[in-house]
Amino acid sequence: MKLKQTLLPLVIAGLVTACIGGKRTTPSEESSSLKAAFGNKFLIGAALNQRQVSGEDTAAIAIAKHHFNSIVAENCMKCEVIHPEENRYNLTPADSLVDFGEENGMAVIGHCLIWHSQLAPWFCVDSAGKNVSPEVLKQRMKEHISTIVGRYKGRIHGWDVVNEAIMEDGSYRKTKFYEILGKEYIPYAFQCAHEADPEAELYYNDYGMNVPGRRDSVAALVRSLKEKGIRIDAVGMQGHMGMDYPTVEDFEKSLLAFAATGAKVMITEWDMSALPTVSHTANISDTAAYWKALNPYPETLPDSVSRIWNARMKSFFDLFLKHADVITRVTAWGISDGDSWKNDFPMRGRREYPLLFDRNYQPKPFVRELLQTP
Ligand code: G3I
Repeated sequence: MKLKQTLLPLVIAGLVTACIGGKRTTPSEESSSLKAAFGNKFLIGAALNQRQVSGEDTAAIAIAKHHFNSIVAENCMKCEVIHPEENRYNLTPADSLVDFGEENGMAVIGHCLIWHSQLAPWFCVDSAGKNVSPEVLKQRMKEHISTIVGRYKGRIHGWDVVNEAIMEDGSYRKTKFYEILGKEYIPYAFQCAHEADPEAELYYNDYGMNVPGRRDSVAALVRSLKEKGIRIDAVGMQGHMGMDYPTVEDFEKSLLAFAATGAKVMITEWDMSALPTVSHTANISDTAAYWKALNPYPETLPDSVSRIWNARMKSFFDLFLKHADVITRVTAWGISDGDSWKNDFPMRGRREYPLLFDRNYQPKPFVRELLQTP
């Protein structure tokens, strides 16, 4: 069955719930779910890891089924995982993710086809480790994209085709793809994806999109794809935020700049660090002091910080609602705090609090506020 058909009941459920908005509900009632409350505005999604897709993390899976109508692969579709060697694909984890999404009537998002990070080491070089020719790289890209997109044809709602290709100053990131093919690798990737599944939506996805240089360059990229007649449906604004960045105003400026290209906007990887931003160049000579600065709340998040974090998250969600005419999906980058990649970034063992559900799988206060549940 085509996804757009499977999504219809979700949209209707959202509409019905919106009509009874304002009423206090118990958590077990359907109206207390994010997808019921906001599914008429945009898809509401979460990234899933393997422990969740396999069913091992039962609490996270219960949340995914109750609250979300879209999922995205946190890691299992990245090149180093799905295509580790030139002649070997590892499709089982991705198959499970797509099956799970389909069984639960969710819009499944593929992440990501062309990215310099988590790229299988063989992809851009020959057996001597030298860059392959432009022709060979194009052939490899085409084979990679058509195999993966083709396998899930008609079952994936949309693909992050190219990820993180533009720098803050607006220049192209000097990846192997760029080194070998120049700017043209981007339209080429979109073209390959479109040929493999003409129905699938296609996205360009990046972080730090509030930064003016990147904002302008991404908007120009989208326009140039459209001028070439290449399909691009949406710009994915990864929402990796902190307590002091971005401002709602800057984020909104970028959102509007992308919408002005005629593309839709998706908030693709939403999380917000609750910890103070520590500059990599901070002059903290003592290692223990540096670790304490990086990991200031190893037990629990103080209420005073939690209040600010929740207010900021609510402000951003309000912004998403304000622009629901152009935003087609809001996706959290994980289910509960315990699973977030931010726990180990930039150092292993760091305790973070960036997601919509806490370590006990309870909704954060701003989520309860949104759902009007006690
Ligand atoms: O697969 C190995 C596993 O075999 C091993 O047991 C385990 C122990 O360390 O590591 C596993 O790999 C890790 C993988 O996540 C799965 O947990 C990698 O070391 C780790 O680097 C990887 O991190 C992912 C990161 O992308 C890599 O760049 C995060 O989970 C994932 O959340 C993060 O997601 C990215 C988006 O794709 C793109 N935008 C930025 C975002 C955050 O960095």
